[in-house]
Amino acid sequence: MELRFQAGGPESWSADAVIVFLSEDEKLEKAYPELLDAAPWMSIAPGMRDFHGKKGEMGLLYGPPAHPLSRAVVVGLGKLDALTYAETLEEIRKGAGAAAVRCRELGVDTLALPVSGLARFNADVERTIEEIVCAAMLGLWRNKAFKSKEPEDADPRWLALLFCDANVPDFPRLAARRGETHAEAVILARNLANTPANSLTPEDMAEEARKLARRHDMNCEVLEREDIVSLGMGAFAAVAAGSVNDPRLIILEHAPAGHADEAPLIVVGKGITFDSGGISIKPDDNMGEMKDDMTGAGAVLGAMRAIARLGLKCNVIGVLACAENMPDGKAQRPGDIVRAANGKTIEVVSTDAEGRMVLADAVWYACQMGAKKVVDIATLTGAVIIALGNETSGIVANDDELVEQIKLAGRMAGENYWQLPSLPECKEAIKSDVADLLNSAGRAGGCITGGLFIGEFVDKDIPWAHLDIGGTSTATKTDGFKVKGGTAFGTMTLIKLAGML
Ligand code: BES
Ligand code: MN
Ligand code: ZN
Repeated sequence: MELRFQAGGPESWSADAVIVFLSEDEKLEKAYPELLDAAPWMSIAPGMRDFHGKKGEMGLLYGPPAHPLSRAVVVGLGKLDALTYAETLEEIRKGAGAAAVRCRELGVDTLALPVSGLARFNADVERTIEEIVCAAMLGLWRNKAFKSKEPEDADPRWLALLFCDANVPDFPRLAARRGETHAEAVILARNLANTPANSLTPEDMAEEARKLARRHDMNCEVLEREDIVSLGMGAFAAVAAGSVNDPRLIILEHAPAGHADEAPLIVVGKGITFDSGGISIKPDDNMGEMKDDMTGAGAVLGAMRAIARLGLKCNVIGVLACAENMPDGKAQRPGDIVRAANGKTIEVVSTDAEGRMVLADAVWYACQMGAKKVVDIATLTGAVIIALGNETSGIVANDDELVEQIKLAGRMAGENYWQLPSLPECKEAIKSDVADLLNSAGRAGGCITGGLFIGEFVDKDIPWAHLDIGGTSTATKTDGFKVKGGTAFGTMTLIKLAGML
């Protein structure tokens, strides 16, 4: 869906449907006086009689078919008074996504958003515009890359922002473009998440990163198997040993002029393009879901794209640890002991605890690059689902301030996080009798011990946080701006986090 802008006031506006938002006890005439000037029929539209502005409510208003604005979709937001800034934006996102999808179901070809009605909320107009544009695009996105036929119900061709001014004002236009940029980042990450492993190898991830670097003016470096081995990354190499698809350690850098020399925020993503479990092979049921074991790396790619396009004035580096975890004659075995790049030895209890092994070497590499802060993001454990469910990602960290920043970025992004404790007792669990560390400490506190393992490869004086998206990386149902399949969870948080630097 294309973005358009219509200036010139009510007489110049035209689209097949306008999308308007109303909270409980609000009147359309009061909330959108300019729109009512353009389409006076709305004040007497029968469809408003039973509309109460409740959360999740959607009303359809029909005017004279020949009128330039002949249809309205009214979205209920519930009671907004009690909501915080971030909660208000979340309601608006949900409503905008649902409205866009409803319009497609109705066969509506062109959409419009009257901007002058958006100043009433407990959120500034620009952020509101940004979120509406983003959510509409995300709601309309479909997982259709592998369908041979286009869906029968076509997407609306464009969404126009309607302005009263004679010309399109700069700030709202830029806000709409920012919304589009955020949506494109999430869509990139969703598409990668949904691409099966036979079409997305570590080299394919590298090619995606190179493409982003070319198009959005970033630096990209790709390390191959020999480089990984010669850097001493024995943990990373061991995970990749069982696959014919060679591993890649991908480094993507956004270093705008004037910020190239500052210590970077480094975001490290788990990019296991398929996790069979390796020799500790997973059960057959739903193993196919493990094609999404690269969504940490996908979120990093999506975020880097947006960070570059938004031109954020800070140095951010994305590191993607990509490999395929397969059983094979050359694969690592349970009982093996491998040495990571920082010199620590790891006893492989389970080859299915592969994420922490690739990340061990990748976070070490991030520290070597002189990171100011390191954030890793990974579908690391099934245990995080047991601990926190499917709406909240776990955090394990060595720095409370960084945790607060991530939680705030998450609130702005509409993504939830919860910090798990890192007690010294938990560290005991990952000590090995025969090596320095165990790669798995079993079921108890699996999300914590998984995170703490990665922390063993981070310099003590570098603030670090690990985000476990094992429960949040895929959605089982479509709702509002969320679509069944890969969620791209973390993409938005990382963009907001970079924006806070
Ligand atoms: N990629 C999985 C974690 C996962 C499983 C995420 C299911 C989402 C849904 C990870 O590599 C894994 O297999 N973890 C093991 C760790 C265990 C062997 C210590 C797990 O969670 O069972
Ligand atoms: Mn695994
Ligand atoms: Zn995995």
